Amino acid sequence: RGPRAATADLAGRHVVVSAGGTREPLDPVRYLGNRSSGRQGYALAATAAARGARVTLVAGNTELPDPAGVDVVRIGTAVQLREAVLAAAGDADAVVMAAAVADFRPSEYATGKIKKKDGQEPEPVTLVRNPDILAELSADRPNRGQIVVGFAAETDDVLANGRTKLARKGCDLLVVNEVGEHKTFGSAENEAVILATDGSETPVPHGPKEALADTVWDLVAGRFAATADG
Ligand code: CTP
Ligand code: CA
Repeated sequence: RGPRAATADLAGRHVVVSAGGTREPLDPVRYLGNRSSGRQGYALAATAAARGARVTLVAGNTELPDPAGVDVVRIGTAVQLREAVLAAAGDADAVVMAAAVADFRPSEYATGKIKKKDGQEPEPVTLVRNPDILAELSADRPNRGQIVVGFAAETDDVLANGRTKLARKGCDLLVVNEVGEHKTFGSAENEAVILATDGSETPVPHGPKEALADTVWDLVAGRFAATADG
């Protein structure tokens, strides 16, 4: 990691990071899920701890070792993620939603395993919307001056989609990744543009997820400083 770890510029701060992905169960053995590895969120948690923050990491379905000195809360579904993040966010100075949250969940959970029936096509799976945790966090901030950061994985018109999403979610910063067949998911590296509500764009060149994490914390620390001055 870079020299920023030595500065302890997040000392005295509590930060909450969500990581990984949610899984929405269909029955006891099946779920709807996504391919998030959790590595970017874990890098955010580890770098914040290295810079002196108290860190709560809300982790969904990851297979990564707990970062040293970080409180880890494990969750499965989007509804559980919401509960854990809102509980931890009460006294948080910053919340970073790096988790890949399932937009929908099966409308019904079968308590027994769903079985094939001879000669019949399967029943369609119906879905309902999950709560939008980032929008909810951004709208009612329990802590005055709390900084809320979102992530967006986009294809096609990446920056325009990102700007629209930043406005729609109401967060302070949005880290926009371009995704494609072989990009981002599960890899150790990342490339992104961080959009801010003041109109600024901070490009982060292709590199380790720790470097992107440190840039996110630089921007968050800058916002803390601006709030303290004003
Ligand atoms: N997010 C969330 N709750 C949801 C869905 C997403 O908190 N139910 C958060 C993610 O953790 C991420 C940000 O919102 O920080 C953007 O996620 P994304 O999937 O890009 O946004 P959506 O609003 O779901 O838009 P889309 O229809 O493009 O998936
Ligand atoms: Ca989504």
